[in-house]
Amino acid sequence: MSSLRPVLIAALCTGAIAAMPAAGAAQAHRASFGALSDGTRIEAVDLSSHAGIRVRIITLGARIQSLYTPDRAGKSGDIVLGFSSPQQYFADGNYFGATVGRFANRIGKGRFTLDGHSYQLSVNDHGNSLHGGARGFDKRVWKIDSLRGGASASVVMSYVSPDGEEGYPGTLHVTATYTLSDNGELRIDYRATTDKPTIINMSGHSYFNLASSPAHFSTMRDLLQINASHYTPVDSVLIPTGSIVPVANTPFDFRKPTPIGLHIRDGNDAQIRYCHGYDMNFVLDGRPGGTPRLAARVEDPRSGRVLEVYTTAPGVQFYSGNFLDGTIVGKHGIVYRQGDAVVLEPQDFPDAPNHPNFPSATLRPGATYHNVIVYRFSVRR
Ligand code: BGC
Repeated sequence: MSSLRPVLIAALCTGAIAAMPAAGAAQAHRASFGALSDGTRIEAVDLSSHAGIRVRIITLGARIQSLYTPDRAGKSGDIVLGFSSPQQYFADGNYFGATVGRFANRIGKGRFTLDGHSYQLSVNDHGNSLHGGARGFDKRVWKIDSLRGGASASVVMSYVSPDGEEGYPGTLHVTATYTLSDNGELRIDYRATTDKPTIINMSGHSYFNLASSPAHFSTMRDLLQINASHYTPVDSVLIPTGSIVPVANTPFDFRKPTPIGLHIRDGNDAQIRYCHGYDMNFVLDGRPGGTPRLAARVEDPRSGRVLEVYTTAPGVQFYSGNFLDGTIVGKHGIVYRQGDAVVLEPQDFPDAPNHPNFPSATLRPGATYHNVIVYRFSVRR
């Protein structure tokens, strides 16, 4: 900003203001992010905006590796969990910041039937398929298709998933487009097309920690609001039972801002016990598709940071980082413990292909799958 000022004054004096780059121009830059142990090179794209937001997206899993936003005092901090090297991401099973797919969350026993054909997917979680199976989109190296700066900064990454990969039918062309605007929004557009009938459910798996300070890392005091009057209960291995039940009078009622930790130790609730906290799909109020609607809002009272999540998807998975067990040392040398993050994954319902009463997750040739996620960052003074 300060380096712009003399140029701006000169431009104003000469009347050449129309030729100036917009003062708020957002920028996109490409950099190296090192290599996997087999030598595969991983690239990073840095997007930055005038609103003081910086995000790094890497080609391993088209994932958010870091995300800096200002707190209420204007101090910038990294608000997502993750690692500083590609090999750590490759070896880890937590999907930090990743694009998850082909199918976000679980498919019971990894089995489904479509148009009379039965498919067996690769299983990687108690005999079920989680986030695309043994090697999902998070462990694939995506291509950078284009990069753009200007009024907003964006990058398009793509991946071609061959027919039969992890057991899924159809060659799938997928893109993840990240767009950072000067109004404090980061938007992700997931798109996919197929050459055979298939199923699809892509989502973003960022672990948010709005405090961004090792001294106050737990998210248990964060205020969470989820615009959902219903949720989809699960069995003991986290597969939906198929029922859709009201959140009223349960620990899952986040219709008003509620501290995450308030009911997280409610041992009388079987769902809380199965999930070791929160790990379930909420059925969002309002109509899916069209304009993204507000799904959830998180506020960290200490830093003042507020995150709003908007989406076109029918549901949102809220996972409270229950499986972080203190064994992982992440970026900035921080040990990740249970409850250190809020993961909000806008998605189709888990196991949708096995529940005819859930919104369909089928994609047919000629159609384009599209899921929009918008993270809006602000501070409460
Ligand atoms: C799931 C959790 C799972 C986690 C893996 C979440 O989306 O809901 O059950 O353990 O991803 O990091």
